[in-house]
Amino acid sequence: MSDFIFNEELMLKIDSILEENDYSELKLLSILLQVQEIIPGNFIPEVITKYISKKISVPLSKTYEVITFFEALSTEPKGKIIIQVCKSPVCTVKKFETILEPLQNELGISVGETTEDGLFTLQYSSCFGACDISPAIRINNEVHGNLTKDKIKDIINSYRRKFQ
Ligand code: FES
Repeated sequence: MSDFIFNEELMLKIDSILEENDYSELKLLSILLQVQEIIPGNFIPEVITKYISKKISVPLSKTYEVITFFEALSTEPKGKIIIQVCKSPVCTVKKFETILEPLQNELGISVGETTEDGLFTLQYSSCFGACDISPAIRINNEVHGNLTKDKIKDIINSYRRKFQ
């Protein structure tokens, strides 16, 4: 599991994000996205959720609601490499499931999970504008399209080589 430590340096960074966002409840989503970006593991631990809620006087339940509603936010640490599988209408018509299964097999995880070595996280995504090369996936903001079962292994291995 995560060895997250809420130290003073991080607290100061979060305070400055809160200040930039006027400690405003209306900017809660923006605050959470910015805070998540500066936390190793790209997630929002419980202690941080409580800290933010208290600082901007928002009920803890509301902060959790926002975190759980938005795909981009997470309460669990994520891998260095985020693989997003589009399941919006065009990719659904083009049968994204045919690439999802080999992806899950190659990684040994299901959607929503992170590999034990902390390298890959697999998630669903809404359309990211690659409908013309559907079925498509996005890996750390890099889009791969016209995918077939055979291409999956090569793509994953190329990221393994890059990040390991
Ligand atoms: S519907 Fe999948 S990328 Fe647009």
